[in-house]
Amino acid sequence: MILSIESSCDDSAISITEIATNKLLFHKKISQELDHSVYGGVVPELAARLHAEALPKILQECEPYFKDLKAVGVTASPGLAVTLIEGVTLAKAVSVALDIPLIGVNHLIGHIYSLFIEKETVFPLTVLLVSGGHTQVMEVKSLTEITTIAKSMDDSFGESFDKVAKMMGLGYPGGPAIQELAKEGDRKRYNFTVPLLRTPKLAFSYSGLKNAVRLAVEKSEPKDYKDIAASFEHIATKHLVHKLKKYFQNHPPKNFAIVGGASANLYLRSQIKDILKSYNAKLLLSDLQYCSDNAAMIGRVAVEMYKKKMFTSLEELEVAARVDF
Ligand code: KG4
Ligand code: ZN
Repeated sequence: MILSIESSCDDSAISITEIATNKLLFHKKISQELDHSVYGGVVPELAARLHAEALPKILQECEPYFKDLKAVGVTASPGLAVTLIEGVTLAKAVSVALDIPLIGVNHLIGHIYSLFIEKETVFPLTVLLVSGGHTQVMEVKSLTEITTIAKSMDDSFGESFDKVAKMMGLGYPGGPAIQELAKEGDRKRYNFTVPLLRTPKLAFSYSGLKNAVRLAVEKSEPKDYKDIAASFEHIATKHLVHKLKKYFQNHPPKNFAIVGGASANLYLRSQIKDILKSYNAKLLLSDLQYCSDNAAMIGRVAVEMYKKKMFTSLEELEVAARVDF
């Protein structure tokens, strides 16, 4: 079995995965959303302190599995340096105490493998990762053959939802709140500009849209917020769809996946489903409970890395976790 730890942002999570079967034997996550909500975003130092409290508590529940552990996997990067180090420190302690190797897992690869929790892998795969930290398109041939095709030049898709929600006083995380508000709204009322519409570049940008929404919020009243939310969600999604269509012209998808916290967005899912129809491509999605950060996805990657003996030294792990992304 492998014990896995995730602490890259505001979720403290630990899982146990059986190596031979990919079976998830234990899975627990303590989310800090409510603690950060009043600030409209994650406060890194507060998150680190809450991880220091929550992770050892969850680890205690895993004690019955300790004798069967073959390795400990932990999110090494990218993420908030002060929160990553909490998970890494605990992983080091487990590794030394039980004399088992460490496996440093890349968080973005973790999101890709959220598709394969308790399942076999499916490759090759074109992936759209939309989270609070990232917006990127990747071609994935295997665990070690991942090419980034396009990424955001500034804010991420999820982050733009968080910032728009903050402008409307909706708390954190903003994605679910904006999605809910948008359901009642008129998607066409506010004619926001689709970002990077005239440039052929395969890239994403959300800071301009965010500023346009800010102006609209300032000029309006709370009764208009549902229309602003709906128009924003529409344009934020249209931007992704527009760039994907451009990419698909020369690279038609076969298996396409949306992963990351914001892949839970239903409007995004429906719009992408529509474009995939014309390519006869299959859409892969993670279970809703595994879209946002969790340790099961880190464990699923760690199982693959364990089989390939991709272990990480204590020093390498510390260096990786000390950089903010
Ligand atoms: O993957 P995740 O849990 O953390 C990161 O690795 O960043 O993603 C969290 C992000 C937040 O920005 C949150 O607002 C966004 O995912 N999110 C959504 C939805 N649910 C979560 N964004 C849009 N629509 C949603 N339904
Ligand atoms: Zn994430």
